Amino acid sequence: MSVRSWIVAAAVAAAGGALAAPYAEPLRPRFHFTPARNFMNDPNGLVYDGGEYHLFYQHNPFGPEWGHMSWGHAVSPDMVHWKHLPIALREEAGVMIFSGSVVADPDDTSHLCGPPAGRTSCLVAIYTGHGLGKQTQNLAFSTDRGRTWTKYAGNPVLDLGMKEFRDPKVFWHEPTRRWIMLTVLADQHKLRIFGSPDLKRWEALSDFGPAGATGGAWECPDLFPLAVDGVDGDTRWLLDIDINPGGQAGGSGGQYFVGRFDGRTFVNDNPPDTTLWVDYGKDFYATLSFSGIPTSDGRRIWMGWMSNWLYANVEPTTPWRGVQSVPRVLSLARRPEGIRLNQMPIAELRALRATPEPTVVPATAALPPSAEIEMEVRRSEGGEAGLRLTSAAGEEVVFGLAADKPEVFVDRRRSRATPFHEAYPGRHAGPVRWRGDRITLRILFDRSTLEVFANDGETVISERVYPTRPLDRLELRPGAGVGPAVRLWELRPIWP
Ligand code: FRU
Repeated sequence: MSVRSWIVAAAVAAAGGALAAPYAEPLRPRFHFTPARNFMNDPNGLVYDGGEYHLFYQHNPFGPEWGHMSWGHAVSPDMVHWKHLPIALREEAGVMIFSGSVVADPDDTSHLCGPPAGRTSCLVAIYTGHGLGKQTQNLAFSTDRGRTWTKYAGNPVLDLGMKEFRDPKVFWHEPTRRWIMLTVLADQHKLRIFGSPDLKRWEALSDFGPAGATGGAWECPDLFPLAVDGVDGDTRWLLDIDINPGGQAGGSGGQYFVGRFDGRTFVNDNPPDTTLWVDYGKDFYATLSFSGIPTSDGRRIWMGWMSNWLYANVEPTTPWRGVQSVPRVLSLARRPEGIRLNQMPIAELRALRATPEPTVVPATAALPPSAEIEMEVRRSEGGEAGLRLTSAAGEEVVFGLAADKPEVFVDRRRSRATPFHEAYPGRHAGPVRWRGDRITLRILFDRSTLEVFANDGETVISERVYPTRPLDRLELRPGAGVGPAVRLWELRPIWP
């Protein structure tokens, strides 16, 4: 017996056999990122550097609830397989490390890293320090590919003496040759944009908002250009702003604006009262896009935290709480109602398919712990069309196309036999349109996560499910024009 399996076996014995092996716990996703133990919320500092993708995340190293916020850290060669690294930034002297971003600064514009010779990389983290009665923006840097971090001695770099000033997202704006920082004045529902030559000296450039949904604090802004329908030169900027509470499905949720950005000001293309939702489920929040992805790749990719502040601290999972979504590729498309966001899982996930060809599901089938499912719903005489996932405890999750209107939904009202929070049960739906006589659905299921992408990501619903027994049966909802086939691939675990 290896030392590792001995430790696991001893721990299981000590707990009366109740402990599952690491990453084999009943509700533990197999191909989504989760911390080994304890609490996680927002993804932070997503950056590609020197052949590696970095994922930092809001983390409590000491417990299963929010607190002592620090940056956990993992790296990946492909955004699919992650390796845990030691905590990157820790709470210190009463100041917690709140959300933020990381940029590569290979030319050392910040003068933090020193000459390129003698170092392998220069990464700079820009994060919110929360404590001592205010929120400020701060720097830390790493010259060893993110393995160790030093907080900048001149912190904070931005201090407005404000309590609700956070979540810096920084990117390089080539046309004006300077760094841009997005922040929120959370309780004023405002985005404040700053510019800097060196990441240290920041000048306020403009404010945006209030606009769109303002029923809660604005958090975690992001801003980037996307080509409309993939046409070079026809570019809009997408401004993402999360909101808590006041999200579309209740509690926390993401909204976006489509417009222009000249390096100073964001101008919304839509009337200020137009609200566009990122996701129609209840569990997709605090999205952040990767910086540093080479232009030869060309993709804009983000991840979001799959939970909701209404019940994040009491989710019935142990010994960890919190899941990151799969990375999603973003695009803008012209639809009858205007220019809108599409999101699809990254193609790299196909590497997890257990078989090259899918299983064709007739009417019922066994459901593996993690799976990718594709189906088409045909326009029909009526009746709900979709799938029902069930457990041996009589629990069910139903999703698909609504009977009476073009709407995709996920119904998790009967998904857990033992209730854990009153705001959890519900049916969540988003509008979808017929493309000719059909609507396509692509579904990712992973023990306690469900992500439904309708019509190549025009509408997305992301939800957590917490059955007391595994959801291990799959059933087609009767009749109702599901055809010609439901195709299913088992997806393999990413953890060794
Ligand atoms: C969003 C958020 C951020 C903040 C962080 C604290 O979920 O509230 O605004 O930086 O979480 O953990």
